[in-house]
Amino acid sequence: MANNVVFVLVCLVAVVASVVAVVFAVGLNDAKKEKISTSSKAVQTVCQPTAFKETCEKSLESSSSSDPKELIRTGFQATVTEIKRVLADSKTLQELEKDKGKKNALEVCKEVLDFAIDDLEDSFNKLGEYDMSKIGDILLHIQVWLSGALTSQQTCIDSFAEENGEAAEKMKSILKTAQELNMNALGMMYGLSSIAKDLNIPSIENISTTPLQRKLLSEKNGDFPVWLSHSDRRLLQANAGSIKPNVVVAKDGSGKYDSIVKALAEVPKKNTQRFIIHVKAGVYKEQVHIIKEAEHVMLIGDGPTKTVITNDICVIRSKLRTFFTATVAVDAKHFIAKDIGFENTAGYEGEQAVALRSTGDLGVFYNCHFNGYQDTLYAHKEMQFFRDCVITGTIDFIFGDSRAVFQNCQIIVRKPGPKQNCIVLAQGKMFHNSTGGFVLHNCTISGDKDYIPVKDTNKAYLNRPWKILATAIIIQTQIDDIIAPEGYIPMLPGKGETTSYFVEFGNRGPGAKTTAESNGLESRKLILTRPRRLPLAPTSSPIHGFRIPGFHALPTGYPACKPPKESKAILIIIFIVILVIL
Ligand SMILES: *[C@@H]1O[C@H](CO)[C@@H](O)[C@H](O)[C@H]1NC(C)=O
Ligand SMILES: *[C@@H]1O[C@H](CO)[C@@H](O)[C@H](O)[C@H]1NC(C)=O
Ligand SMILES: *[C@@H]1O[C@H](CO)[C@@H](O)[C@H](O)[C@H]1NC(C)=O
Repeated sequence: MANNVVFVLVCLVAVVASVVAVVFAVGLNDAKKEKISTSSKAVQTVCQPTAFKETCEKSLESSSSSDPKELIRTGFQATVTEIKRVLADSKTLQELEKDKGKKNALEVCKEVLDFAIDDLEDSFNKLGEYDMSKIGDILLHIQVWLSGALTSQQTCIDSFAEENGEAAEKMKSILKTAQELNMNALGMMYGLSSIAKDLNIPSIENISTTPLQRKLLSEKNGDFPVWLSHSDRRLLQANAGSIKPNVVVAKDGSGKYDSIVKALAEVPKKNTQRFIIHVKAGVYKEQVHIIKEAEHVMLIGDGPTKTVITNDICVIRSKLRTFFTATVAVDAKHFIAKDIGFENTAGYEGEQAVALRSTGDLGVFYNCHFNGYQDTLYAHKEMQFFRDCVITGTIDFIFGDSRAVFQNCQIIVRKPGPKQNCIVLAQGKMFHNSTGGFVLHNCTISGDKDYIPVKDTNKAYLNRPWKILATAIIIQTQIDDIIAPEGYIPMLPGKGETTSYFVEFGNRGPGAKTTAESNGLESRKLILTRPRRLPLAPTSSPIHGFRIPGFHALPTGYPACKPPKESKAILIIIFIVILVIL
């Protein structure tokens, strides 16, 4: 009897347990299914604005979140993981590393891919800190960093291409997925409003993916970019004598150090405070590397012709990639230079020879001189501001893919080597939605006295597209009689002819003449192929007035085909444009 009772009880317990288990499992499954389906809908929506949807969905499939912000962050993280995987794939990389020349390219890659990881991680962290409803405040910065990560990857490929096309192709294929993921991340940041609409998130539904405009316009930011802090603005405007430096460098022994490199060793790691180095008058033959950890460094000289940092490292004699030729290379964020000269004296024979490479975000160069020949000033990536500077050189002497504004600068073409032509700008925008582009505002473009006699044999051009979406605008600038009438030339036949974006507007001087033909401008293609010089885009053209890809700032709706009178309104508009760009 007792045994039977025990038996029945055991059976009952077993039955109840299995029923509970089944019910519970079914319930769980349903919950799981529902979760998966909301999450997969969210994945599809987040991937909707991306150009590589399969790559996107695959990268997000392991995420069970349906929160778009978390999905987007997962997308950023997937890019980091992929770049780390590339860096860790030592076997393939070693294969590319066979000869000395290529090894140097690989060193460039290791450095810049590390920058790409930093930029993506910064984007990941920043997005995490912000409530989606306030995302507009930081959107531009995230877009700039994601673009910077793409530029870095491209710099790696380009460094191989300098020597060996085959190795470059191989590197490109190794980075294919990383670039796709990176472009997708950028696409998501431009597609936020459509993502919000589809997922019914009203707080960001009407977000402007071209942010900061309203804020910038209402902000009194004086003459400097809004991202510059008040204390930094004060530093830039202060008399050199009234600034108390952390360290003094002097050739004559009157400072703590006699070299800038030695002084830089004093900058604390992960520095967050302005660290001011006064470099007294003198010529400093050094190779200066402001490493990425040395943030917030400011170098102040005694004047751009008195304090000069010089070197002659170049691609030809030094057997280095362009990236490593810089006399001064700035990888750190928030760098400021004031009253200093940067020089590369390799001459035209040295070919690519950079005087300054500015890679870290938010660089400011005030009253500085940049003297060189080919590739003098490498405005590599992210946001850079140059004001009251003098920039000299021969071929592509202002180049790179940063979002850079050059204001009140003197740009001087130097005498090149025999059979060489001179090109002022070689902008390197390559990807849709990336934020790079150069703006020259209120500058002068002229020829050095040695250049003037050869200007008809060694022609000078304003611009050529280094990459297919090269973007540059020249406004209210004095252009002397040294620029060939066609203004632009291709980098390689056909390259960027139909896709690059060059605009001239409100310029003056004999070199600023644009042809009557350009009034008939119909498409972007014609900028390079026929009229070449664009005084003003007709509203009906694909250019949409002065809307510059990546800048999203210039107003539309100008009267078609007529250069406008420089009325007050236009000056205001240009001022606004500059503000918004910054
Ligand atoms: C650029 O962004 C738009 C808007 O989000 C998107 O539709 C497009 O696919 C993006 N392009 C690329 C190449 O990622
Ligand atoms: C977004 O814009 C639409 C159309 O302009 C409007 O109907 C809607 O109320 C706006 N949503 C929010 C949250 O402002
Ligand atoms: C334009 O640049 C010159 C220096 O080259 C400067 O004196 C002038 O104030 C600038 N104009 C504006 C409107 O910034």
